[in-house]
Amino acid sequence: MFERPKAGQLAVLVHLELPGGDYEADRLEFIELAHAAGAEVLSVIGGSRRQPDAGLFVGTGKADEIAESVEAQCAELVIVNHPLSPSQERNLERRVKCRVVGRSGLILDIFAQRARTHEGKLQVELAQLHHMSTRLIRGWTHLERQRGGGIGLRGPGETQLELDRRMLRERIATLKRHLDGVRARRAQNRQARSRNEIPIASLVGYTNAGKSTLFNALTDQQVFASKQLFATLDTTVRRVELPGLEHAVLADTVGFIRDLPHDLIAAFRATLEEARNADLLVHVVDAADPERAARIEQVVAVIDEIEAETVPRLLVFNKIDQREGESPRVERDAAGVAQRVWVSALTGAGLDGLRDVLAERLNDSDRRTYTLRIPSRAGRLRAQLFAHRSVRAERQLETGEMEIDVEMPFERLRGLCVAAGIDPPPDPGSVEAWEADTVK
Ligand code: GTP
Repeated sequence: MFERPKAGQLAVLVHLELPGGDYEADRLEFIELAHAAGAEVLSVIGGSRRQPDAGLFVGTGKADEIAESVEAQCAELVIVNHPLSPSQERNLERRVKCRVVGRSGLILDIFAQRARTHEGKLQVELAQLHHMSTRLIRGWTHLERQRGGGIGLRGPGETQLELDRRMLRERIATLKRHLDGVRARRAQNRQARSRNEIPIASLVGYTNAGKSTLFNALTDQQVFASKQLFATLDTTVRRVELPGLEHAVLADTVGFIRDLPHDLIAAFRATLEEARNADLLVHVVDAADPERAARIEQVVAVIDEIEAETVPRLLVFNKIDQREGESPRVERDAAGVAQRVWVSALTGAGLDGLRDVLAERLNDSDRRTYTLRIPSRAGRLRAQLFAHRSVRAERQLETGEMEIDVEMPFERLRGLCVAAGIDPPPDPGSVEAWEADTVK
């Protein structure tokens, strides 16, 4: 029988260079994450591999180096900045004689510490239990359980650690039921908003980009903004005053991060649905971050993962006060649609311009009725259009196709069509559409 070693805060970090990553930037972020979890970092062990070792993730020589470092520094914990399989975690633990936590465990731990609302706590607990259930195997059930027992052991899930698989499954089922209730309530609120046709913009972005600060600045209220990573774990939805728009709503969402653990995305699905059903995704970027291009890509990957890729987007480059010579401005594409806004949420520079752009992009004036022909195989697109409450009429054609009159902003419709592999109707701003209109 193998008992997992106790965990603590004194940590040795392990970060390997693997093909495709940005070694230095990822290393710095890793140290910040470890601090965010409350670790006291004793040392960072580096190295490079062409591919992970199947058994240990690191090579045997590297494992011995880690073991020596653990012993020499009396470390209580090894944190590896990569997703480890349950068996890699276990094998490495045996080898280095110290508790080992992978990147997913680390992020889950930070989330466990940060969750504040009932919903956030339920979501994190569910994610932790899922993570844990893959690791509960024979010989590994004697897990430590002490409140505040250290990274990878904290949070709501920790009280469940001694439960056997059956009880774990029961707890997971209960949590899912609770979350379904939360989800249903959210859906009701959303429906009420869409019935009243209140447009909603949802803030998304890499952790620490400044979403909460921007949210506060735009809604004139105080949401906890902090230097801590993942300070915001729960979606907050608030009314925002925009020029020329009677009503509009802004939602702040959980910060994204590279390789967000899958369990977490699944658990936070209800919260992230707020983003999927938004009329506009406001992607906030830390303009002063040297890694901002990579961060943008990583956020886009999460947007795809939560199936929000069809929602129109606006990029907001924040923190321009930290960049020399940068001034607030709005950048538009060839069609005149504002695509990028440069602001500082902290100093307020550029926020009036951003309000104008939000009003412009959320304005219903481009909400026209389009007629769309879809083949019968495009049932998903049809369901999506109904879910958006955008279908005004529907006719079955002799060809077997459906003809649907849809009322929604063009950009949104185009996104949905492209995702479904169907030709969108002509852009109302295009020459063809103008000619078609004038010929009539
Ligand atoms: P998560 O909760 O991790 O998702 O973070 P967030 O994106 O909500 O970031 P938050 O608003 O908490 O801001 C992170 C840090 O950046 C805080 O220390 C803010 O004060 C700082 N910050 C936000 N906007 C600006 C800005 O325009 N300029 C500067 N200099 N700092 C900013």
